[in-house]
Amino acid sequence: MKKTLTGLVALAAVVAVAATAQAQDKPKFVGAESCGMCHKNPAKGNQLGSWQASAHSKAYATLATPKAKEVAKAKGIADPQKADQCLKCHVTGHGAEAASLVGPPAGKYKVEDGVGCESCHGPGSLYKAMAVMKDPAQAKAKGLVDPTEGVCKKCHNAESPTAKPFVFAEMVKKIAHPNPAAAKTK
Ligand code: HEC
Ligand code: HEC
Ligand code: HEC
Ligand code: HEC
Repeated sequence: MKKTLTGLVALAAVVAVAATAQAQDKPKFVGAESCGMCHKNPAKGNQLGSWQASAHSKAYATLATPKAKEVAKAKGIADPQKADQCLKCHVTGHGAEAASLVGPPAGKYKVEDGVGCESCHGPGSLYKAMAVMKDPAQAKAKGLVDPTEGVCKKCHNAESPTAKPFVFAEMVKKIAHPNPAAAKTK
């Protein structure tokens, strides 16, 4: 009996350690500003600036407009900025567990950023280190997403109450933020 108990305690300890390791390995959202620290150089395309100028950076603010309130009211929603039904497409990482949204002081995640870099490129805690970023294969292995049409359509679809037709080839040009210094071979 005592032996079994010791065994169980040991097993529980192993499970707990495994769970912790898994939690640490799970990528977290670090916020657009964290990416922007390295991606605001005009010579490399200033991706932070392009995103700030895009509609995506305003997607949370949009939920406070009279138009949003009207759209929400029709669905019986009082405050769209507090409603899961709206936030799911207007904010990065909505629905992810709170612990994976790394806000200040450790990170820069904030809902006010709306649809940030990581909505399209995936949560960045594991790939954002310089050594990883410089090696595209390693960055991908650590969760960096090369966004395709499917990524856009997670949000740009008929479930959006204001849905407009979405033609990927045209829409992707509107948000383009290429790095002129990167010799792309795709
Ligand atoms: C510590 C600096 C640093 C941070 C922080 C950083 N990056 Fe990068 N990133 C780089 C460097 C360096 C490259 C290689 C290209 C270059 O020189 O700009 C790169 C490349 C990329 C690429 C192109 C990959 C490819 O396949 O060519 C993407 C996309 C990207 N980063 C997105 C992000 C996102 C999203 C974040 C935030 C979660 C982020 N980066 C944070 C330094 C950084
Ligand atoms: C997490 C959800 C989400 C994802 C993923 C997403 N978008 Fe959006 N997008 C939005 C929201 C919400 C708006 C409206 C923002 C606003 O007006 O406040 C928007 C607006 C836009 C606009 C400006 C509106 C217009 O009609 O000109 C373009 C362009 C766009 N998205 C392109 C893309 C492309 C291309 C992708 C994929 C590479 C993509 N989006 C991925 C949620 C998303
Ligand atoms: C399935 C994803 C999705 C959901 C859910 C969603 N939106 Fe959006 N929303 C978008 C996208 C994508 C856009 C930009 C392109 C478009 O209008 O199709 C947008 C744009 C908007 C706009 C600007 C439209 C304009 O023409 O100016 C408003 C306002 C808005 N959404 C309000 C809401 C409200 C309120 C809710 C919740 C009741 C909501 N959205 C839920 C994806 C979504
Ligand atoms: C709406 C989706 C979306 C958002 C938001 C977004 N990106 Fe991108 N990003 C893309 C797409 C699509 C590409 C082109 C991928 C390709 O070349 O196949 C791209 C490419 C890149 C590249 C590679 C550029 C090159 O030419 O090598 C970098 C770096 C990058 N993004 C960084 C960022 C950063 C930093 C942010 C936030 C400040 C951000 N992105 C926000 C969709 C997005």
